[in-house]
Amino acid sequence: MKKIIILLGVPGSGKGTQAKRLAARTGYAHISSGNLLRTLESAPGVSSSEREKLQAMKDGKLVSSDFVFEVTAREIAHRLDDGQGVVLDGVSRSLEQAQMYQGFFEGRGAADDVVAIEIALSDEQAVQRLSTRLEYAKQGMAVPGTAVEEVRKDDDPEVVRQRIAEQGNVALSPITGYYASLGQLVRVDGSKSIDEVEADVAKGICLI
Ligand code: AP5
Repeated sequence: MKKIIILLGVPGSGKGTQAKRLAARTGYAHISSGNLLRTLESAPGVSSSEREKLQAMKDGKLVSSDFVFEVTAREIAHRLDDGQGVVLDGVSRSLEQAQMYQGFFEGRGAADDVVAIEIALSDEQAVQRLSTRLEYAKQGMAVPGTAVEEVRKDDDPEVVRQRIAEQGNVALSPITGYYASLGQLVRVDGSKSIDEVEADVAKGICLI
């Protein structure tokens, strides 16, 4: 099995849900750029310039590529150096970022160890999922098949609109196109149940 699994998908498509399951099953490290950025945001030593860069998250916009790359590549390198595989959740959100990671993996001689899985979902379904997540989180309840999550400020409907405008299927298309051109892409139907998507992801990984 490839050691670098990149999960792609619009906000709310199920990247985090599937990344957790995949990591638990494979023993790979789950590396979520969103989680790393949120951890940094609440860290006591965060600098004012970092705080400025992180403001984009609150607005539903992309954080600058150089900054996200610096944070995530360090974490990825640690895990790969330890011989562990990685499940990358949301790290590649623009063509520029996809190319940065590809260069990074090539530099490590690991370019053949990459598989990208697109969890395909329409923008409308994604908005619905994020709205459901917000409602469950507000009530302290878990969406069936997942654990209880904290209310995310960026699940506010106004911010969700911005996230989908900037990170929806229009933005995703060049990224999936890039991985397809490298022969690294597998697409799974993200509108199925969580268990069904999990099974399709597991099959997909073995295809490449
Ligand atoms: P991040 O935290 O990664 O948010 P996101 O990409 O918007 O993804 P979500 O966590 O909202 O959704 P998901 O696809 O993981 O779906 P989930 O499994 O949670 O990033 C936050 C912000 O950080 C970004 O907006 C940006 O500002 C910044 N950022 C992060 N990475 C960046 C980068 N590389 N470059 C620049 N900026 C970056 O599922 C969603 C809901 O649906 C859950 O309630 C779940 O229970 C449910 N669900 C999941 N699967 C199913 C299913 N099959 N059926 C029914 N419900 C399901």
